[in-house]
Amino acid sequence: MLKMEQYERAAAYINRAVGTADTAIVLGSGLGGYEEAMTDVQTVPYSGIPEFPVSTVPGHAGRLSVGTLSSKRVMMMSGRFHSYEGYGMDEVTMPVRVMHLLGVRTLILTNAAGGVNELFSPGDLMLITDYINYSGKNPLIGPNLEAFGPRFPDMSRAYDVSLRDLAKKQAQSLGIPLKEGVYCCFSGPTYETPAEVRMARVLGADAVGMSTVPETMVARHCGMRVMAISTITNMAAGIADGSISHDEVMQVSGQVKGSFTQLMNAIVSHLS
Ligand code: HPA
Repeated sequence: MLKMEQYERAAAYINRAVGTADTAIVLGSGLGGYEEAMTDVQTVPYSGIPEFPVSTVPGHAGRLSVGTLSSKRVMMMSGRFHSYEGYGMDEVTMPVRVMHLLGVRTLILTNAAGGVNELFSPGDLMLITDYINYSGKNPLIGPNLEAFGPRFPDMSRAYDVSLRDLAKKQAQSLGIPLKEGVYCCFSGPTYETPAEVRMARVLGADAVGMSTVPETMVARHCGMRVMAISTITNMAAGIADGSISHDEVMQVSGQVKGSFTQLMNAIVSHLS
């Protein structure tokens, strides 16, 4: 279990090195390039932040930046941590608590995901409406740090309704199709089997992935408002023929860069 002093040490370092912002965006697999949309940027590698884990996944650069986007100061994490890398759930979600200490109030999570809903296609963007935690892990297990939030946090509306409305409205006015659905989190690092994907569908999932849910739980615990968007990089196992590879995930993620950038810029510029 990480201690409050460890979160505070990381937060103090980041504040000195790059400053802070009201809004933070976590960039998932292949979406790291979105950092370039910011101007007036200051960056620090995760390896330089005391107590911080480091990214080990190709396509997750491992740096934290603060810059200006649509005339707002924004913090971006290029690369996140996953439990399949061997990190404890407290380490996976450490950045969210550090952001909270830095005064971040709105968290936008992004990821690459496999499409389970047969109406989806690779290259679609999906606004996450709710999650299923099928990872077998919960980052809030253990002594509750009351300074962050209550023992039993409510998850009735994990993804903020007004932020979701904002995303839908901006997508519509840009003419960018935005799917909506439930994201089911598996632990990875194996992609799912076709049987697991059929199960996820029966349970109500529209997409499957290996991230985002732990960060959502910890962010809601400390009262942040959360929005999350998936890039559907492939159809989940068994939905379409063929096999799934990280290279394909990265490649399709790169292809949606244009619409992803337009949509995110518009969302950020309209944040209250
Ligand atoms: N499954 C899990 N995670 C993923 C997938 C998938 O099919 N595609 C991208 N990330």
